[in-house]
Parts: sequence; C-alpha cells; structure tokens
Amino acid sequence: MSGVANVRAQALRCEGLQRYLGQDEARVHVLRGVSFEAERGQVYAIVGPSGCGKSTLLYLLGLLDKPDGGEIAIDGRPMSAIGDEERTAARCRHIGFVFQFHFLMPEFTALENVMMPMRKLGRLTPAQMVDRARSLLASVGLEEKTRRLATQLSGGEQQRVAVARALANEPTIILADEPTGNLDVRNSNLVFDLLTRLAKENGQAVVLVTHNPDIAKACDHVRPMRDGLFVS
Ligand SMILES: Nc1ncnc2c1ncn2[C@@H]1O[C@H](COP(=O)(O)OP(=O)(O)O)[C@@H](O)[C@H]1O
Ligand SMILES: [Mg+2]
Repeated sequence: MSGVANVRAQALRCEGLQRYLGQDEARVHVLRGVSFEAERGQVYAIVGPSGCGKSTLLYLLGLLDKPDGGEIAIDGRPMSAIGDEERTAARCRHIGFVFQFHFLMPEFTALENVMMPMRKLGRLTPAQMVDRARSLLASVGLEEKTRRLATQLSGGEQQRVAVARALANEPTIILADEPTGNLDVRNSNLVFDLLTRLAKENGQAVVLVTHNPDIAKACDHVRPMRDGLFVS
C-alpha cells in the first residue's frame, strides 16, 4: 500500500500519551506512554480492568482533555499545537461520542438532540439539519419517535438516539465508553450492531471500551490495557 493511501485510511494516531491526574500525594500516573492507531472502517475494542485508564484515554483521544506528554493526530493532523478554539472545532468536526449513559438533553426531542452537534458545526441549513436528523433516526429504527422527548424513550431507544447523535456530523472517529454497559443483552447487541454497521458504511473508525467479552470478540481488533499501557 502506498504511503498516501495509508495516511488517508488512518483516522487517528497517538504516540506516547502520558497523563497524570489528581493533586500532590493523590497524583496518579494514569497513562504511561500509550500509542495506538485507528483506521477508517475498523472497530477497536479497548478492554481492561476498572481503573486501568480506558476512560482517561478516550477523553484524550476525543480532545476533551489534554495529555501531559505525547501526541495525538486526527486525520493526519497533530492536535498538540492548536489553540482551544480550534480544538473545539476539531472535536465537533471529527469526533462522535457515545457514553455509557446517553447524556441526551431530557427537555428536548430525539430530533433536537440529534440536531445539536449539527447546530454547533453550523454547516447545514435548519431544514437540512431536520432532514439529516430524521434520516439518522430512521437508520437506528426510530423514525416513528423523532418527536418524543428523550425522557419518553426506553433505555435502549435513548442509546440509539445517542448513536444517531454521534453520527450527526459524519465524524472521522466514533469514541464509545461502555456504550452498552447500561443495557440488557438484546439492546446491547442492537446498539452495538447499529453503531458498527453505520460506522463501517460511512468509513469511520470506532474505538469502544467494553467489559462485554462477546462485544469485544465481535470487534475487528481487541486492545487489552493494564495500568495505563496497552499490553499484547
Ligand atoms: N480526577 C482524578 N483525580 C485522580 N485520579 C483520577 C481522576 N480521574 C481518574 N483517576 C484515576 O485514574 C485511573 C484511571 O481512571 P479511568 O480512566 O477512569 O479508568 P477506567 O476507565 O479504565 O476504569 C484510576 O486509578 C482513577 O482512580
Ligand atoms: Mg471508565
């Protein structure tokens, strides 16, 4: 494969990520030089015991937090040198998040929740945003429920809205932190299948943290983590 094609397929790369959290004697060396690459159209499971640094890593990769050392590049572009405004823009443009608890805005409808990232990005007209949000909700099987408030949806439905919202801006990478951790088996499988199928169709990289061995097994790559490092 040529170098250029390689760069194009690569959605995300991080090298030597270091992160300390906490103050003084409570200071913990949470990430000890983590390196990782994610390609478009591939699904990566990060697995490991509670406290090994999985969420901390996802926060860094999602540009929600800054490393104390190391580099993150998204779509081939290094993120360390850019200012806060550009980081926010890059996050909005390139990253879709799905968390364990959906974090939908309860006072808004499913449709409005999915439109939220599009509003932030500001590239579509309001009518285009409505169209796109409708079609995303249809793709997660919720075309009948676009006008429901988030609170009027079941747990599985709320997480499907969260998946639609993560896809809203056609991100480069989808980061999911135990996205099925709060769901029963049937809904877990449904949400996982939707997330991975849609991301693959769109050529997005998916990086997900999971404690569910069946879900990890269904991913293209499994990366076990211990004490702030990937282990083989
Ligand atoms: N704000 C913080 N201050 C101090 N330590 C923290 C903070 N946040 C997380 N940690 C510690 O960092 C380690 C990794 O946390 P986390 O990334 O949430 O782990 P995981 O998601 O793998 O369960 C844990 O030991 C946790 O206690
Ligand atoms: Mg965690």
